[in-house]
Amino acid sequence: MLIKRPEDIPPSEITPRALFERRRAFIKAAGALALAAGMPGPAWSREALPGLQKSPYSTLEPPNSLRDISTYNNFVEFGFGGKSQPAERAGAMKTRPWTVSVEGLVQKPRTLAIEDILKVAPLEERIYRLRCVEGWSMVIPWVGFPLAALLKQVELLGSAKFVEFVTRMDPVAMPGLRQPFLDWPYTEGLRLDEALHPLTIMAVGLYGEELPNQNGAPLRLVVPWKYGFKSGKSIVRIRLVDQAPRTTWNLAQPEEYGFYANVNPDVSHPRWSQDKERRIGELFKRRTLPFNGYAEQVASLYAGMDLRKFH
Ligand code: MTE
Repeated sequence: MLIKRPEDIPPSEITPRALFERRRAFIKAAGALALAAGMPGPAWSREALPGLQKSPYSTLEPPNSLRDISTYNNFVEFGFGGKSQPAERAGAMKTRPWTVSVEGLVQKPRTLAIEDILKVAPLEERIYRLRCVEGWSMVIPWVGFPLAALLKQVELLGSAKFVEFVTRMDPVAMPGLRQPFLDWPYTEGLRLDEALHPLTIMAVGLYGEELPNQNGAPLRLVVPWKYGFKSGKSIVRIRLVDQAPRTTWNLAQPEEYGFYANVNPDVSHPRWSQDKERRIGELFKRRTLPFNGYAEQVASLYAGMDLRKFH
């Protein structure tokens, strides 16, 4: 976002899945040995999330490596200094205990512990493309469940038209919060029909394990047909409202970041063209697809709207 241009990552750093699985087994064994010897375990040892269902919504494209996904991030609460900074700093954020309040225009407002959120619906693996407005993309094997299942818990009122997502503010762990150019906390929003769409998920993990902190542990939004900035990380509050909520990037630079932020190769961002993208780990750019390739499933949500105006 307001961040300097990333360095290219050479293709040699891409880890195929089989190799990744073997490495994970090795890391686990090494972690157990280290613990037995009284040494700290590896920083990225996370709980496995077993019994995952496969999803028909997953793309068949090969996922990026765990290394790509967890070291090339935007999480400005941890600083504006580049893509590796979230991985270097986010370990300081405590993700337990963690509660999420679901409130506003609902019949039964609730504050749920993350342990209960994990039981809201069967966890699925959803392999989705993520397209950042900066012009790069990845394929990420998320673990999550439909946001609709969480919203069902609180019984929405008929007056609820939009959903606001508010994310964590931890001034000690998050040095980025000291920067005044964004209106903290990082807040995002969706129209209710977008929020209830079966492609919209709350992610709690990736590659079969809990989310790394830098990817938004313990709970983040994922909306695969929108630019990545819509997918707020480390969410603490979900509020049902009757007006479009004010969102962080839209407030900061309304001409650059619209409320809808649907991936649209025809609407250029003032600083980054949107008709092509670089898949992290690849040399050549590829064409960006309308709605990030999910047009068949979601284009009807916007029928009759001028998508240049409502960008
Ligand atoms: N959520 C919070 N709280 N803070 C952020 O800075 N960055 C957004 C989004 N969610 C961001 C956030 C942007 S710009 C992108 S592209 C995606 O997270 C990146 O997600 P990833 O790092 O897991 O790939």
